[in-house]
Amino acid sequence: MSASKDIGLKNWNSGYLNRRHEKPVHGDWLEKYLPTLMRARGPVLDLGCGAGGNSLLLSDKGCSPVCADFAIEALRSVRLRGGEMPCVLLDMRDGIPFKEETFDFIVADLSLHYFTAETTCRIIDNIYETIAEGGTLLCRVNSMKDTNFGAGAGEEIEHHYYFMDMGKDKGTHKRFFDYDDILNFFKQWHEVACNENETMRRGVVKRVWEIACRKPASTTLDGIEKSLRKS
Ligand SMILES: C[S@@+](CC[C@H](N)C(=O)[O-])C[C@H]1O[C@@H](n2cnc3c(N)ncnc32)[C@H](O)[C@@H]1O
Repeated sequence: MSASKDIGLKNWNSGYLNRRHEKPVHGDWLEKYLPTLMRARGPVLDLGCGAGGNSLLLSDKGCSPVCADFAIEALRSVRLRGGEMPCVLLDMRDGIPFKEETFDFIVADLSLHYFTAETTCRIIDNIYETIAEGGTLLCRVNSMKDTNFGAGAGEEIEHHYYFMDMGKDKGTHKRFFDYDDILNFFKQWHEVACNENETMRRGVVKRVWEIACRKPASTTLDGIEKSLRKS
């Protein structure tokens, strides 16, 4: 494990331990997708679930979330808050350990913006493989305008990717996205809808991109050909 990987994980674990008493937040963004999410044929993966705000909402509304995070204290917080859904300890940099095309929906809320461009592309590729044909990824990532949470600070070590050299994130890395970054990172997806908007985190405004993208349903004519051969 590299030093910065270690610092990031240590920070997340101590953050979740210190915030045990806080109510988990979900930022009021998933509600509008609930009618669609409730049609999921199986579980919904909550990748980088944190204390489980989104998963608890999904479970309340009758979906079957699977919580996944690399911080064990995040998963413990999910349990402490009464979440009984499956919890998986995973580091998405090392892959997403589910069979191909397992999920109709994957939610990744504010968890895809910590990585180099190469790793971000690999993670998004892995999500693409793990999602079912016709499935949807719903995610939010830091906007370049997210100045309350570090945009414009730190040392740019790659295009729009920063080493945070002060404050509570000191020693970690963060990416901030603009519209072109989104088009670029999500280019293999069939339909990409995105919107730059605001949410509240710890009492301050956070500027994010909200992204919904869909993997195409099968375009092969296999099924039709088989039926034709039978008739
Ligand atoms: C800003 S929090 C968001 C948590 C939750 N999705 C929410 O919106 O409340 C980012 C989460 O991503 C997780 N995370 C960061 N890097 C990760 C990695 N490499 N693999 C898995 N989870 C990771 C952190 O532990 C943390 O829980």
